[in-house]
Amino acid sequence: MILVTGGTGLVGSHLLYHLCLQNDVIRAIYRTQSSLENVKRVFSFYTDDETLFSKIEWFQADITDVPSMIPAFSDVKQVYHCAAFISFDSKDYIKMRKVNIHGTAIIVNLCIDAKVDKLCFVSSIASVGESLKRNIITEENEWNKELDNSGYSITKYGAEIEVWRASQEGVDVVIVNPGVILGSGFWSSGSGKLFSQVYKGLRFYTEGITGFVSVQDVVKPMILLMNSSVKNERFILVSENKSFKEIFFLIADSFGKKRPSKKIKPWQTNLFWRFAWGFSKISGKQPLLSKYSAKSAHSISRYSSEKTQKTLNFEFQNIGESIKNISKNYLKD
Ligand SMILES: NC(=O)c1ccc[n+]([C@@H]2O[C@H](COP(=O)([O-])OP(=O)(O)OC[C@H]3O[C@@H](n4cnc5c(N)ncnc54)[C@H](OP(=O)(O)O)[C@@H]3O)[C@@H](O)[C@H]2O)c1
Repeated sequence: MILVTGGTGLVGSHLLYHLCLQNDVIRAIYRTQSSLENVKRVFSFYTDDETLFSKIEWFQADITDVPSMIPAFSDVKQVYHCAAFISFDSKDYIKMRKVNIHGTAIIVNLCIDAKVDKLCFVSSIASVGESLKRNIITEENEWNKELDNSGYSITKYGAEIEVWRASQEGVDVVIVNPGVILGSGFWSSGSGKLFSQVYKGLRFYTEGITGFVSVQDVVKPMILLMNSSVKNERFILVSENKSFKEIFFLIADSFGKKRPSKKIKPWQTNLFWRFAWGFSKISGKQPLLSKYSAKSAHSISRYSSEKTQKTLNFEFQNIGESIKNISKNYLKD
């Protein structure tokens, strides 16, 4: 049996779709009934065949709650751990530690107890060390705890340490480190917001550079890695390194909308996140921009996926093509 955590999220739902194409039954964790609609919607972008969705054996549990998770591991041989809490708001740090580090420690302990054959953990480029000289970043870059790392990065790095513990206790592991993941169906959260904001007429852009990858090019290598003899290694998943400006322009072009035209300078975002932080303290609402989102909007980091390409003989999709496909789904939705 294959078990998927985070199956109701962007990565998990696309992973479930691909796993359902290849397997008769998959077990997946969910927390609320309403989140299953997200998965049905994602499936509907790619197929009219409703029998695929019915291959999923849904299991209600919270990864931070051990008793709810124990029965989910019965007869499980492979685990894809995609569940996480993603936030760049400093007030979410404690909750992120609980879900991302403590939750992963629970998954690891259950994998060890259940003698699971292999665990695939979805980490992030956020937990791969930065390059101080702006060289291309590879899997060999080491985490530098002296840097001003975001709470999210710290918790993803902490979760990776838990996963390496599994490898020392007899469970084979693979870790993937995707860049910013672009995909369909979650238009009001994460990178889905890039599409909804550009569609609604976003006027501003920044020139920070980072790695981008389509969700299809995240889940396909995950499955290939799990079905290979590769173990106890990590893999960067980035199809192209691009500036936010280039990505916004590609999205705008795919919608036939006007490109954002006003460049935002670092001092402007620096001022804005401070203002947003102050306002959030008074209003109690989420800040419109956090310190680390502001930082990443301008920072320049380039990543190499050469190891993934060579190990799996895998070719990443051109990011412009991925954006065109995602925009089509946005217009259909
Ligand atoms: N999105 C990106 O650009 C990106 C980039 C690099 C790496 N990643 C990593 O990729 C993975 C998947 O991200 P995503 O974009 O798919 O995130 P997402 O859409 O926010 O989905 C998160 C998933 O985790 C589940 N979850 C959260 N807390 C949980 C808990 N306590 N117990 C059980 N399930 C819980 C959510 O369930 P509910 O539906 O119940 O909330 C949801 O299924 C994460 O590990 C993330 O760090 C994402």
